[in-house]
Amino acid sequence: MQPFKLTRRETFVIIGGLASAVTSWARAGGPADRERRMRWWREAKFGMFIHWGLYSLLGRHEWVMENEAIPIREYEQLAKKFLPKPNPAREWARLARQAGMKYMVMTTKHHEGFCLFDTKLTNYCAPQQACKRDLVREYVEAARAEGLRVGFYYSLMDWHHPDGARCETDEAARRRFVDYIHGQIRELMTNYGKIDILWYDVPWPLDAKGWESEKMNEMVFSLQPDIIVNNRNRLEGDFATPEQRIEPAKGQAWEACMTMNDSWGYHRADDNWKSPKTIIRNLITCARMGGNYLLNIGPEPDGSVPKESVRILEVVGRWMSRNGDTIYGAEPCRVSRSNYCNFTRKGNTLYVHVYFWPGDTVTVAGLKTRVKAVRMHVTKEPLKFRQDEYRVQVYGLPLKPPDDPVTTLDFECESEPVQDMDWVRRTKPRAGVGIEA
Ligand code: GLC
Repeated sequence: MQPFKLTRRETFVIIGGLASAVTSWARAGGPADRERRMRWWREAKFGMFIHWGLYSLLGRHEWVMENEAIPIREYEQLAKKFLPKPNPAREWARLARQAGMKYMVMTTKHHEGFCLFDTKLTNYCAPQQACKRDLVREYVEAARAEGLRVGFYYSLMDWHHPDGARCETDEAARRRFVDYIHGQIRELMTNYGKIDILWYDVPWPLDAKGWESEKMNEMVFSLQPDIIVNNRNRLEGDFATPEQRIEPAKGQAWEACMTMNDSWGYHRADDNWKSPKTIIRNLITCARMGGNYLLNIGPEPDGSVPKESVRILEVVGRWMSRNGDTIYGAEPCRVSRSNYCNFTRKGNTLYVHVYFWPGDTVTVAGLKTRVKAVRMHVTKEPLKFRQDEYRVQVYGLPLKPPDDPVTTLDFECESEPVQDMDWVRRTKPRAGVGIEA
């Protein structure tokens, strides 16, 4: 039998094919490159969203221009009154760091079309209006001064630009508007140093082809090779963005973005504030399910942070200073069922976050691993516990919760802690007193 022999041509074709496979795997957007770019983000878990613009002056939500059908000429007058105090972004960045947040994402242009950055493509921007400042540059400098990663939010939908709506039906308008949008994205990716996240929003009224989204992302990656990009320019992007809910995306990184009340932009009457405990429970759930949590502030017109947001973030920050190591770098956790505990995991350590303190005994059922030791997370105090095949009971606990607003117990397990409550239901003995089995 003749030994198998490749011709020179066949060899070149195979090597060429392997080379292009490797480069596509490694190029921006390829899986290996994406994991490289996202490693810090997956570890970070927790970020601050900032919604600030002319709408903040009206104080009735960032959609006020649309939802009150305010005429453009009337709305534009706000640009004459938008006069923030000096350097509000330093306050945001310090608050974010103290809250345990590792990155920030700020609106550079929201649906209203007013740009907080210096742009050559319109004078409807903070540096060329009454404000006379590049507020994006102030934000970038403040975030970096606090050691935080920098994200830019940019709304594709634009209620001010004359072509923002007719681009859907008029090709010349689409050409002008897409050039405008791509041009501004290029300015943002060029003029502010290293940018870590690009957060597109509302791709109304075009599709990916209409926005030329592939070309836009290629330009972005060419200017910022380490950046990560979300999924809101009609492409899959690097991560999904469930909004106001925690919903893992199948087979894709994801970040739940949420307000602290019901409004992204400042709303002086929106008093529906989440408690610090709710914020911490949401953060734990995101970490448990393998995602990130982007929590919003809506600064007042002068840039001040609403006092309720400060109060909430200060409580969250104190908890994170004691328990953040159970969140950062946490791995997806397959323990979730309880009426008073939430869970995160690192390796074989299960962090049991007790948010409704039941008293002297905390029970976790259905664990399919042996618990070797239980400790109070903050003090590392060893705790007494018993385990049978159906439950682990930590007993002799103080009647009052030792931490606020959530107390964390460490369960050191023999293997990865996994909970199987279906097994409990199927196999737990059911014969009760007085009922013959
Ligand atoms: C929605 C809102 C927008 C907000 C965004 C945040 O798209 O329209 O105002 O900026 O959610 O995810």
